[in-house]
Amino acid sequence: MEKRPPTLGEFLIDNQNSFPYATGELSRLLNSIRLAAKMVNHEVNKAGLVDITGAVDSVNIQGEQQQKLDVYANEVFTKTLVNREIICGLASEEEDSYVTVPGFDKSHRNKYVVLIDPLDGSSNIDVNAPVGTIFSIYRRVSPVGTPVTEEDFLQPGNLQVSAGYILYGTSTIMVFTTGNGVHGFTLNPALGTYILSHPNMKIPPNGNIYSVNEGKYAHFPQGVKKYIKYCQQEEGDRPYTSRYIGALVADVHRNILKGGIFLYPQSSQAENGKLRLLYECNPMAFLIEQAGGRASDGHRRIMEIKPTELHQRVPFIAGSEEMVDKAEEFMKEA
Ligand code: AHG
Ligand code: MN
Ligand code: MN
Repeated sequence: MEKRPPTLGEFLIDNQNSFPYATGELSRLLNSIRLAAKMVNHEVNKAGLVDITGAVDSVNIQGEQQQKLDVYANEVFTKTLVNREIICGLASEEEDSYVTVPGFDKSHRNKYVVLIDPLDGSSNIDVNAPVGTIFSIYRRVSPVGTPVTEEDFLQPGNLQVSAGYILYGTSTIMVFTTGNGVHGFTLNPALGTYILSHPNMKIPPNGNIYSVNEGKYAHFPQGVKKYIKYCQQEEGDRPYTSRYIGALVADVHRNILKGGIFLYPQSSQAENGKLRLLYECNPMAFLIEQAGGRASDGHRRIMEIKPTELHQRVPFIAGSEEMVDKAEEFMKEA
């Protein structure tokens, strides 16, 4: 009989020894994320049915209006990771500052901090389009047994222990890496289990999809404008196809599977673009690099940037290796 693919739970147990610093703590943490994601998935699925869509009054630190599901997803992940004392600290796109896990004696023995974008692409909720969750995990740098400090969160992406996303799309998939490749697990809603559906994901070195918000074209730097024109030119395998969902998770997931490039550049209106280094760009960069691709701010490798603040934004160009190389050539010229 053909062997059935493992569930995420089975995979975590089978591979625990290959995880960095395998003590079971990381498996426990990924297990908690898996559970929280199931709860958010349930809520996202019924968003059209109940009065949970639409904006609430609160405005987050980035000055954007939060959607109700943002608040819900943030709460679910906080409750699961903080209140159950799985980690020692959490930073969320939806919170002004990081959260220290209370319970000094026990929880400060925990090694890991989590950074999270609980609901990515939240404006898609109102129109039944895909949304996601993005997470990033680091080992704390401050001494175990003390409350976490900001330094624990301001680490460059190349020190990530694990990163992943959940895409709540036509099906729900959790994709993550612990530095040993990228693996995708699709949720079987009838059983409530995630099944390994995409082992060892690899992004094609080249592709024919470019994803960028072209409505901002007039405000982009010269190099980006020229690169976009290059994508549209009739020559060789070009013009490329344009695809932009407006949820980073969905755009990156598609590009990893099919090959392509995603750009959220700086503009004359936003000098560092829109995406957040810690909650969005670093985890996506880790996944894309683990899948064989590249992630850059146009000049530097995303994962080598030393963060200076929690909600820092950074231009983001990521995807198939040859396409990112090409885009960078245009940035240099400009
Ligand atoms: P979030 O919903 O977490 O604020 O993220 C939205 C982000 C990202 O998912 C997406 O790629 C980008 O915003 C789209 O921005 P524009 O509408 O400016 O293109
Ligand atoms: Mn986001
Ligand atoms: Mn968000």
